[in-house]
Amino acid sequence: MTRFGIIGTGRITRRLVADLQSTDTVTVTAIASRQKERADWFASQYGIAAAVEGYEQLLQRDDVDAVYVSLPPSLHAQWCIAAARAKKTILCEKPLAISGDEAEQIARVCAEEGVRWLDATAYFHHRRTVEMRDIVRRGELGQLGHISAAVSFYRPFQAGEHRLDKSLGGGCLLDLGWYAVSLACIMAQSAPTRVFADHTVTENDVPIRTVGTLWFADNITASLSVGYDTATRKWFEVAGSEASLICDDFTRPWLERPTRFWIHDAKGSVTANEIADRQEPRMIETLIGDQPLDEYNQLSVTTQRVLEQLDRSANSGQPVMMSETDTTFSP
Ligand SMILES: NC(=O)c1ccc[n+]([C@@H]2O[C@H](COP(=O)([O-])OP(=O)(O)OC[C@H]3O[C@@H](n4cnc5c(N)ncnc54)[C@H](OP(=O)(O)O)[C@@H]3O)[C@@H](O)[C@H]2O)c1
Repeated sequence: MTRFGIIGTGRITRRLVADLQSTDTVTVTAIASRQKERADWFASQYGIAAAVEGYEQLLQRDDVDAVYVSLPPSLHAQWCIAAARAKKTILCEKPLAISGDEAEQIARVCAEEGVRWLDATAYFHHRRTVEMRDIVRRGELGQLGHISAAVSFYRPFQAGEHRLDKSLGGGCLLDLGWYAVSLACIMAQSAPTRVFADHTVTENDVPIRTVGTLWFADNITASLSVGYDTATRKWFEVAGSEASLICDDFTRPWLERPTRFWIHDAKGSVTANEIADRQEPRMIETLIGDQPLDEYNQLSVTTQRVLEQLDRSANSGQPVMMSETDTTFSP
């Protein structure tokens, strides 16, 4: 039984704690907050034995084998590295960090300490994602041409929202671009060679809408649209020479609907497919199992590098070439 400790008491923590608690091979033994009262409240609500004041105190506990880091993005690297030094297995919320170098450092320290880690992007692990990727790899769409991905939700935000705070790693590019960029890399089976943030709308000095283009080898291109200013979207299309694959909820399946995707061919025939799965428990089992995690880890670091270059592009108004070290992802 792997004993998890939770770092942070935010909104997403509630959902992931329930997923951890419903996974047979896992138990949640402790939760840490900056404030003892908050940890006490959370522990009593969710039936967690220990409420801990301070994240470092949680890392020192003998009854914690693994941690779930659920903090604003600017704090991920610091606490993942501290967790790795304490030899804890790590599940870190996305985005993994706020820069490519930070992401690389997390990966390096975990490797040094022999610690398994994943970022908590659960869609990577859904059986549907694996099947959609394999359809593309098997050439069932013909020659791959263009990928489009759109991820958004419409505000309002609460006061103090980290998504609108630059110092905490806010903005839709890191937050939602994480999904669109990783999806494009998975489907293109590589990292892009060049990126361009064509258009950005900012508020509080963070992007609240970003439109971008990625160029991959073999004339594959991708368009991204992410933002906080349109209703919830979580779709992509992969277009090949013979057919397109479309999924309208790739980051997390819509509630109470079949977990679906469609293949549209050149004559207008549509094949609907359904693959049910529970992506969070599958992610947790993958983390605590013994299968190699290199492919996931490389995808995380590459996604972070691409986002960093998209940010550079947004600031300069120019396309940015990715360097060779930026593009290690090659599944
Ligand atoms: N995988 C997904 O589907 C998904 C969905 C939503 C969000 N996320 C990611 O999860 C992470 C957390 O997001 P969230 O929306 O749950 O955040 P949130 O509700 O704002 O919670 C963040 C927690 O971080 C702790 N914290 C420590 N220092 C802080 C600071 N300076 N300012 C604010 N909070 C601070 C707080 O816990 P204490 O005060 O108790 O210490 C707070 O409850 C983000 O990286 C986000 O992108 C992932």
